[in-house]
Amino acid sequence: MGLAHGGGGGGGGRGTPARICAEVLLTVLVFFCVTVTSAAALKPDAGLESGWATINHSMALVQRMEALLAQGNGSDVGLRVQTVNSDEVKVIQAHALVLSLHSEVFDELLQSRNSSTLVLEELGECTAVFDKFIRYLYCGEISVSLDQAVPLHKLASKYRVRALQQGLSLYMRQHMASDSPAGHVVGWYQYAAQTGDLALRDSCLQYLSWNLSSVLQSGEWTAIGDDLLLTLLQRSDLVLHSELELFEALEAWAAQNRPGELTAESAVRAVRYGMIPPQQLFRLQKQSPLLLRYHESVRDLLFLAFQFHAASPQQLAKYFDVNCSLFTPRNYLSPAWGAPWVINSPTRDDRSISFQTQLGPSGHDAGKRPARADGVGGGAGVSGGGAAGRPRIIVTPATSSADFAGVSFQKTVIVAVRQQGKVVVRHVYNFHQSTEETGDFLADADLQRRASEYLIDSSLYLQIVVKPIYHTLVIAKK
Ligand SMILES: *[C@@H]1O[C@H](CO)[C@@H](O)[C@H](O)[C@H]1NC(C)=O
Ligand SMILES: *[C@@H]1O[C@H](CO)[C@@H](O)[C@H](O)[C@H]1NC(C)=O
Ligand SMILES: *[C@@H]1O[C@H](CO)[C@@H](O)[C@H](O)[C@H]1NC(C)=O
Ligand SMILES: *[C@@H]1O[C@H](CO)[C@@H](O)[C@H](O)[C@H]1NC(C)=O
Ligand SMILES: *[C@@H]1O[C@H](CO)[C@@H](O)[C@H](O)[C@H]1NC(C)=O
Repeated sequence: MGLAHGGGGGGGGRGTPARICAEVLLTVLVFFCVTVTSAAALKPDAGLESGWATINHSMALVQRMEALLAQGNGSDVGLRVQTVNSDEVKVIQAHALVLSLHSEVFDELLQSRNSSTLVLEELGECTAVFDKFIRYLYCGEISVSLDQAVPLHKLASKYRVRALQQGLSLYMRQHMASDSPAGHVVGWYQYAAQTGDLALRDSCLQYLSWNLSSVLQSGEWTAIGDDLLLTLLQRSDLVLHSELELFEALEAWAAQNRPGELTAESAVRAVRYGMIPPQQLFRLQKQSPLLLRYHESVRDLLFLAFQFHAASPQQLAKYFDVNCSLFTPRNYLSPAWGAPWVINSPTRDDRSISFQTQLGPSGHDAGKRPARADGVGGGAGVSGGGAAGRPRIIVTPATSSADFAGVSFQKTVIVAVRQQGKVVVRHVYNFHQSTEETGDFLADADLQRRASEYLIDSSLYLQIVVKPIYHTLVIAKK
């Protein structure tokens, strides 16, 4: 079986969709173009030459402000912080000028007060971090832990301290992967959805979607609410081991949460049964408590899934609409769907690898898969390519099969990075043949910098997934 290498010289092969393939033996090529830009010449500092200098005591100023708050000298307002549903009270001697400087809400409260004390009502979690919040107003800096982010964000929002609000939002977006015993991303998602912080909500959703396998195994999974569960189940970009893994996680979730009929029905109908091998489907149908209970709700989907497994995609497409989520794969990490690829020195490496995937997820094609997977390295003898020092990955089918005429194969490259010491999925790129189609492939990776967060022990960690797209058959039918 011959290996089809991508175009020599790095320019070829673009845009032609991977067509028909038998054992979908794929060759993957990566090109890098190292652009060397000469460092801009250092300009002499004009200021220094003419005798100007900056005397900088800003650190000392911050210390003085901190002492002022701690000792309360010259305080003109006392903050009496009362906790909702509790006797807990905190009193802080503060300065009206400092509070007003950061917050129009404080400004209004201070102007309308008629005593030297301002009474504030806060939730317990907010009272606990109120000192920290006020200290930020004096010093302009704050240290935050995972569990303090939401209460501090609530205070920053209530008193309209925008810079702190934005800073905390950014902190949360950057700390999705941090270790916490009970998990924190689901809590952040719920808070963001409630308060309408769309950027934070979407970051949480993306993190959960792209690291779903580890979320499913964590204690956080059973704590997710109905809305988040259904939102996740709709997504095609979930990165997880297999659809069966998702179904089993749904079962665990349902056992714990005892959802209402409507939620449960929507959830079991969102599972992509076509992506679960028929042997497993038989078992689920007879043994899964969830499927036994909601059998009527999914009967049509199971029936379709079994038909999908019984025939070739073309036969199916003649009689059914194949453009539906039941037949749309997600990003599965199991070996049938693709291969991991670690590139050791990505700025120099232009090697190719070969790997085998299943022909397709349908049981009809199951026997046609060669049992052995190949991982072949070796120079492809290709140089150049890749715009502006960026890598390019080309995936081409090595052989073709008439069985799959009309089916196109989407390739997905999943890029992992290290964050807070953990490996997390940072990008998911879809394309048909070359990553150049995406335009922004690894645009901000800066692989020539040793400290690039895209390098894990100076290697680039990729996972390649190959997914048949049956939508094209709908067109072919007409
Ligand atoms: C002054 O010093 C602080 C810390 O020592 C530094 O962060 C800040 O950038 C300096 N400011 C200027 C204008 O150099
Ligand atoms: C606050 O007052 C005390 C004495 O009442 C004094 O020792 C201390 O230096 C003052 N602190 C500040 C920051 O002015
Ligand atoms: C302040 O004065 C207003 C009326 O002038 C009164 O309604 C309000 O209760 C007073 N607040 C406090 C905290 O004494
Ligand atoms: C994120 O997902 C990737 C790919 O599944 C996995 O290798 C990694 O361990 C996950 N990281 C976390 C922190 O969940
Ligand atoms: C598939 O369905 C989606 C919406 O469900 C639609 O936007 C798209 O045009 C359909 N594709 C084909 C090829 O029919």
